[in-house]
Amino acid sequence: MASSKRAARPVTHHLGKPWCEALELPDGRRAILRPIQPVDAGLLQESFKQLTPEEIRFRFFRPLKGLSDDFARRLAEIDRDEALALVVVELKPPPEALIVAVARCSVLSEGDSAEFAIIVGKAWTRQGLATLLLKRLIEWCRRKRLKRLYGDVLDDNIAMLALADSLGFQRFHDPDDPEVVRVELPL
Ligand SMILES: CC(C)(COP(=O)(O)OP(=O)(O)OC[C@H]1O[C@@H](n2cnc3c(N)ncnc32)[C@H](O)[C@@H]1OP(=O)(O)O)[C@@H](O)C(=O)NCCC(=O)NCCS
Repeated sequence: MASSKRAARPVTHHLGKPWCEALELPDGRRAILRPIQPVDAGLLQESFKQLTPEEIRFRFFRPLKGLSDDFARRLAEIDRDEALALVVVELKPPPEALIVAVARCSVLSEGDSAEFAIIVGKAWTRQGLATLLLKRLIEWCRRKRLKRLYGDVLDDNIAMLALADSLGFQRFHDPDDPEVVRVELPL
């Protein structure tokens, strides 16, 4: 008999425009999913302090002690025609509410592909957040009629490779960089 186990999945409620979704996670916590705003730069810097060195390495491919003002501003201010960046924010009063997940994709200069990057804070993993965020990026890329979405993943990043497999991404190995696996989804 087929297993009845279902993947952990947040319940989502669309809150209208500007686009914003209320999330109820399988463990009962609540959060808001919304596009990033330029004013989020400071919150990104504050939230970054919660990340472990391993999470930082998996996301940025290098050790980083913090987000500089300039880097945070560039992450928060995006060209909305060419990129989508989504944040998940804890449902708490503003001074305490941190960003717990970020997913972004940008259209490449060739125009038919987008590259993604994603991070979900450790305390918020295995709740289906990355799956939901990647699905939103995929929907956006499809609306823009792009041909593929891809991301570069370190080869010891078991979680991200398993997640990409679960969404149907194919793996490609870069002969020039054996530590990096490119995961690619034809759209
Ligand atoms: C990889 C990452 C994004 C996964 O986020 P997440 O919100 O926990 O992912 P989901 O809950 O949507 O998981 C979906 C599926 O992915 C797989 N998966 C996720 N984490 C896993 C882990 N630690 N080990 C094995 N499989 C894992 C599972 O198949 C999971 O389904 P299941 O929970 O029903 O078994 C998160 O761990 C992370 O941000 N890591 C650090 C930064 C990073 O690696 N970014 C990627 C660089 S582009």
